[in-house]
This record gives sequence, C-alpha cells and structure tokens, in this order.
Amino acid sequence: MRLWGRATVRRRRVLCLWLLLLGFALVILTFLDLFNRDQFNSHQKPGPPHHPLHGIPNAPDLEVIVDSRDPALELGVDLAPLKSMQEDQLLFVPSMQGTKNPPQKKGSYKVLLPGAKKDTRTPAPPTHGEMGKAVQLHLEGMERDAESSAVRKYGFNELVSERISLHRRLPDARHPECLRGQYSESLPSASVVICFHDEAWSTLLRTVHSVLDTAPKHYLQEVLLVDDLSQHGHLKSVLSEYVSHLDGVRLIRSTKRLGVGGCRTLGAARASGEVLVFMDSHCECQKGWLEPLLERVVQDRTRVVSPIMDVIDWQTFQYNATQWPVRGVFDWRLDFYWESKPQLQDKDPDSAVRPVQSPALGGEVMAVDRHFFHSVGAYDPGMLLWGVEQIELSIRVWSCGGSMEVVPCSHVAHLDHHYLPYRFPDQELLERNKIRIADTWMDAYRKIFYRRDTLAHFIRQSESPNITERLRLKRSLGCRNFHWYLTAVYPQLYIPHDRPALSGELYNVGTGSCADYPRGQGPQGGAMNVAPCSGTGSQHCDLNSEFEVRWGPMGALCLDAKGERAVLSPCPTHRPTASRLQWKFIKLSGQLVHQQSQLCLEVVKEGGLPQSDQKEVNTRAKTGGLFLRACTHHPRQQWHFEQLVAPKGA
Ligand SMILES: *[C@@H]1O[C@H](CO)[C@@H](O)[C@H](O)[C@H]1NC(C)=O
Ligand SMILES: *[C@@H]1O[C@H](CO)[C@@H](O)[C@H](O)[C@H]1NC(C)=O
Repeated sequence: MRLWGRATVRRRRVLCLWLLLLGFALVILTFLDLFNRDQFNSHQKPGPPHHPLHGIPNAPDLEVIVDSRDPALELGVDLAPLKSMQEDQLLFVPSMQGTKNPPQKKGSYKVLLPGAKKDTRTPAPPTHGEMGKAVQLHLEGMERDAESSAVRKYGFNELVSERISLHRRLPDARHPECLRGQYSESLPSASVVICFHDEAWSTLLRTVHSVLDTAPKHYLQEVLLVDDLSQHGHLKSVLSEYVSHLDGVRLIRSTKRLGVGGCRTLGAARASGEVLVFMDSHCECQKGWLEPLLERVVQDRTRVVSPIMDVIDWQTFQYNATQWPVRGVFDWRLDFYWESKPQLQDKDPDSAVRPVQSPALGGEVMAVDRHFFHSVGAYDPGMLLWGVEQIELSIRVWSCGGSMEVVPCSHVAHLDHHYLPYRFPDQELLERNKIRIADTWMDAYRKIFYRRDTLAHFIRQSESPNITERLRLKRSLGCRNFHWYLTAVYPQLYIPHDRPALSGELYNVGTGSCADYPRGQGPQGGAMNVAPCSGTGSQHCDLNSEFEVRWGPMGALCLDAKGERAVLSPCPTHRPTASRLQWKFIKLSGQLVHQQSQLCLEVVKEGGLPQSDQKEVNTRAKTGGLFLRACTHHPRQQWHFEQLVAPKGA
C-alpha cells in the first residue's frame, strides 16, 4: 500500500509538472499570436513606429551601421562628446532565435519592439450613432489636446501627418513647358543626403519614400540617412529595422551632435554619387524634380542649384505651390528669405522655365557636384547646430568661383514649421554663427551687420571666433571680396550709409521712446509708432544722402507720409527719390521735416491713452502714433539718432 501510494504521488507530481509546462506554453503561444495579429492589423497605417515589420514573420537579423569614427576630429570641430549609443543598445537584445545562422558580426541584433507604446497619439475616431454626444465631445477634446501636444513636440501637426500616406503624390505645379524638357542621356548619379535630428516618424519616412518614388533608379546612387544624435525612441532600433528593408537606403549614425552643416559634411564624406543632393528630413518631392537639377550641374560643375521650394502647411499638411520667380536673399541681420517677386518675371515666355541666379540658397534641398563641394570647403565646421550655415556657403560659393541658381522645372515641397522645436541652447549660438560669417566674409561691411544686431556686437567684443582655417581656405581658393559680391551678385541689396548722428535708433526727447515699426505688418509697410528703445538694433534706421529714412534689416522700407500719418512704404528702386519720401533733419532743433509738406514728425498719444498704463508700454503695444504736424519746438517733435555701435566699433 505504502509503496503504491508513493508511486502514485510521484506520478501525480510529474503529471502536475507536465500540466504546468503545457499551460505555460499555451500562454506564450496565445501571447505571440496576439502580438502577430496586432502587427497585421495595423500595417495599413502609414507611420506607426510601433510596428515596423509590416507583418514579416521572421525578420532577418539586422546590421546596425554605426559610424564610430570621430567626425569631430575629422572636421576639426571641438564638440563635447555625447553618448547616444547607450540608449540604442537598450532597445536591442542580442539575437537568440535562428540558431542555424547564429549572428556572425558584432553588430547583428534581433529587434525588441520598444514597449509597443500606445499613447494618446491615435485616439479612436468617434463612431456616430453609437456614442452619446458628450462622449464624442470628450473624444474631440482629447484629440485637440493630442494635436496641440503633437504641435508642441514637433512644431507641426504630427497627428495629421500620421494619417497621410507615406506615398502621397503631390499635384503637379510645373509649368507645361517643363514637361517637354529633354535631358541629356548621361546625367550623373546622385546621392541624396538626409540629415535628421528627432524628426517625426511620418515626415522622415515620407521624405525617404518620396525620393524613392520619384527619382529615376538609374540616377539615384543611394539615399543616405544621417542620424544627428536623435534621442527619440522611434528613430533607434525601429528605424534601423525599417531601413534595412529599403533598397538603396543606408543609415549612418553620428555619435556626436554635429548640426546641419557638420551632419551634411559627414554624409557627403560617405556618399559615392557624383552629385550630392542635401535634403531636409521633412520634404516631399514632385515628379521629375531630380533630372533638371542634375542637368544644370552637369553643364557646369561649379553650379549649386535648388528646386523651387513649395510649402507644406504645418497645420493641415496642405500643399501650396510657390509662385515663380523666386530666389534666395538675406538681409543685414544675416537672416535668410525666399523672395517671391512676380514683377521680376519678364514677358519672354521662356522665362517660366529658365533658371534664375540666386544670391543665396535656402539649403532645404540643394544639389552640388561632390568634388566641387569638397574643394570649396564643404560646410564651415565652426558653424554650430543650425542657422545661417546656408548663407555662409552661399557667399563662399559665389566668392570662390561658383554660382547658385533656382531651377523652376524642379519642385520639392518643404514642411513649414509653426516654430522650430529644436531650440538653441541659447540665442547666442546663432549669433556666433553670424559672427563667423561677418568676420570671415564681410570685410568692412560687417559694421553694417553689427549695428543692426547689437547682441552679436557685444559677444564679438568679448570673444573672437577662430576663423584661422577659413581665412586660409579663402586665400588658397583666391576668393573675391564682399564688395565684389554686393556689386556682381547681389546689387539689389541696399547698402546703408549709416552716417554718425544720422543713423541709429530714432529717439524722441518728449516721450523718451524710439520710433518703431510694429512687427507683423509685413514687408509692404504700414503705420509707424513709438515704443521703448530696444537697444537690439531692431529699431535702426538710416537717413541717407538721398534724404530717405531707410528702415529694417534690408533697408527696403522708407519713411513716408499717408495723409498726416507717418508710415513705411517700399523704397523706390529708381532715382531721384520723390520728395514725398524725403526728410530733412535739423540738428539744432532736432526736428525731422517732411520735404513735400514741410510738416514735422511728432509723437501723438492715441485716444487719450493714460500715460501710467505701464502694461501697454511693457508689451510694446501702441503708446502713440507718429504724425505730421505743423512745426513747433515741442519736445515731442525733438529727435536724435543714437548709434548703439560706435562707428569705429567691431
Ligand atoms: C496655403 O494656402 C492656403 C489657401 O490658399 C492658405 O490659407 C494657407 O495659409 C497656405 N499655407 C501656407 C503655409 O502658405
Ligand atoms: C584656431 O584653430 C586652429 C586650427 O583650426 C588651431 O591651430 C589654433 O590653435 C586655434 N587658435 C586658437 C587661438 O584657439
């Protein structure tokens, strides 16, 4: 009995163990099934970073290309080393499956999906009828919240972007003449270099697919994705995995934050195509965009070209075509603009398809011969993060033997950010980049910049940029000076006179405030005002020898009179200047006299606004208007020009 009993107990134990194991196996199987089904169900969505495999049951082992060479050393940049690969490694686990083909290389990993996060990014659409209105409203509220948080995160409405196909086609905005364009048989091969830093999944992948979908295979050497030390999880293992399934796309990861210029230079060093196409990571290409660019470069290897940059709305992702002709320019604060000037268009029908020379290019998309790019000095490795590196390159290309143009038969759309989420650690970084341009390229003209950007002036007074290498490059390439550039390339830029006592902030004695032009009134001009003196150079104006009072960083707006109101209007391009735009400054009395009417400029308080309303003053809202009145010696008609940066300065 006892023996039998013992044997039964043992048998029962074994049975229990087996049952337990079986149960365990079942649970695991169910789990795996759920997981797989989830993957299949969601493969329609354009950009779910959670499920990149699109239902591929056995994804191949993945090689992560990690650029471990020290680009900072290579480029001579002194950037603090930052570690990003640690997080990357957390998202990977060494491959345990596929024992038939054990991982050979060190960089071979099996992907572990990062938590399959389901956050508020894709709230279920309310199904009408089933749902009470309150619930629906609640969901709509949630959606709005999700939208605004997406906008905060990326600077554009990423929720809308996620709902749009990664393969959407843009409407054709090209001139009909472009469609007949015959390109030479032997166009060079192109490497498209796309740098990104914490870009949203949908916009990044739509950029990549739009290149793959539009560029002819025989011209497209490769697409090089260069990760400039992104921190967002979806850009780590999931992206590596996704890219490994795309033909002709390579992913390089920098182990240091390089900024736009450094990142593009790194990509250029790894590229093998004859022509480099630099492209921002949130673009969509239109059919036939690549061939016209390659054609212009192959005709002249020193030519740097850009397509027309159309606009994708940050809120709706609506596509807006840009009006031709358009060209890139910059002002005396070294800020870049695309200038769209229909009036530049001449009657000649060919002009709709003829490239126009451009003093600068925005660089959102830019094609350049690879050898020319390297020989002209790539991007200035001293430029930090982003901002104005395209202006530096533009001045250098023109001054050192190249040229730039916009090619109208090529269209690429660029996502217009509401604001840029990747902020500078401080504004001074951008100023330092500008200082490099001023000191390297602008000769004596740099004073004009420093007067309009006093923050740059003060930084420059306490430190000097190390531009030794760039000056050496400039000498060895035999580059021309800035005077030549202004005369031959960009004669449309007004050159301020900035005479002492006749330029600077226009200070009003009676109110202790300065003449001001409220922001947001646009380049076409509007009413003048007074506001607290800013001291930043933003209120700088210049009474020149034509007796015009020139305003703004372009000097393109002139003090004008509309009835009895002082306004700004676009300055004339022809001489002599109309007397309506001419002013005489009487130093002794401080009066600024309008030549046509012989009236004086006076600050008038608007609608009896109480003087004590300090809030209004602080927010730089209207504290009064500028009017033309019969000349008196009242202090509100007394002015002087205050130069913030001494003429000998900088
Ligand atoms: C695009 O065009 C629409 C209407 O034509 C306009 O309302 C919108 O502001 C434009 N968006 C951009 C970014 O230009
Ligand atoms: C400036 O940079 C060069 C190399 O780019 C270096 O040799 C030189 O020492 C630097 N000068 C200063 C003052 O840091």
